Amino acid sequence: MRAAGIIGLGSYVPEKVLTNFDLEKLVETSDDWIKTRTGIKERRVAASHETTTTMAVEAAKAAIADANISANEIDLIIVATVTPDYFFPSTACLVQNAIGSPKAAAFDLLVGCTGFVYGIVTACQFVQNGASNCALVIGSETLTRIVDWTDRKTCVLFGDGAGAAVIAPVPEGKGLLGFDLGSDGSGGSLLKAEAIQSYCVTPSKIGINSRSTIYMNGNEVFKFAVKVMADSTLAAVQNAGLTIDDVDLIVPHQANIRIIDAAARRLGVPMEKIIINVDKYGNTSAASIPIAMKEAKQNGLLKEGSVIVAVSFGAGLSWASFVMRL
Ligand code: UT7
Repeated sequence: MRAAGIIGLGSYVPEKVLTNFDLEKLVETSDDWIKTRTGIKERRVAASHETTTTMAVEAAKAAIADANISANEIDLIIVATVTPDYFFPSTACLVQNAIGSPKAAAFDLLVGCTGFVYGIVTACQFVQNGASNCALVIGSETLTRIVDWTDRKTCVLFGDGAGAAVIAPVPEGKGLLGFDLGSDGSGGSLLKAEAIQSYCVTPSKIGINSRSTIYMNGNEVFKFAVKVMADSTLAAVQNAGLTIDDVDLIVPHQANIRIIDAAARRLGVPMEKIIINVDKYGNTSAASIPIAMKEAKQNGLLKEGSVIVAVSFGAGLSWASFVMRL
């Protein structure tokens, strides 16, 4: 088995900023409540011309440029999203056409906010065993199109954006060192958006009353998140044959600063080792980790040879983490 790792990162966020003060005009909330309870100050909102696919394409192009490869070399595209533009075709196929990767197999992954980490682990298996030489993994979401703008418990949390990574063979000892993937479908009803079909009484009603929005039991998801963020990190680190002290940087799913804080305390990891940008983008689901990783790279925090952990949780319920040496 050869080593596989990230050789390029890209991200894209819409220009339009929605601040907590803007939200004060929409629902009964306050900048103070949102900042204290979540750490979020603002989030991005897709303009009418921006979709999950267009943002995925922009993030993909940026990752391809960062990796210094051509789109033609890509032979596998995985898009993690809960907000595809279509049930079918897959977003991955639309990206394949838009960026010009004629050799690429393409499919979507639906694992909620955990999707990007699942995607990286999946792509690494293909590259490690020789089935792929150059894979593209994208997380892209237009969550603001499926939030209920009258529900203050959820509408203040989510934002839009996309991030992407190129996975390719890397020198022995680098790349993916270990991972942990998990699920617990018994908690599925805690965080959900129903499919259109759920509403159909008869087939002729398809399309009527079809707009499904996010439902979340925030307290239960919070408790689950704190536990699995710490447990999954430790499981992946152990799977890599390392200890938590060997980890230089953790890139957690950006859902809530209090979840990140609590998980860091459970792990005994200082906050200086943790990447945080939830204040600027809110929860962008499957896009949150690649957006944070790209930002960390731009800020010079992803150093050659350092060990990073990416860890996420989300709908399913699901969780995942990977350990990678850069
Ligand atoms: O990617 C995975 C996605 N999900 C998550 O990561 C979410 C995990 N959960 C959370 O982050 C938190 O549970 C929330 C941020 C969603 C909520 O924070 P909380 O500290 O658990 O608040 P709460 O739900 O216990 O609500 C406390 C109070 C309630 O009022 P009462 O009943 O005490 O009078 C809520 O009605 O805060 C009220 N509240 C709000 N007030 C102002 C809830 N949302 C808001 C709001 N503005 N936006």
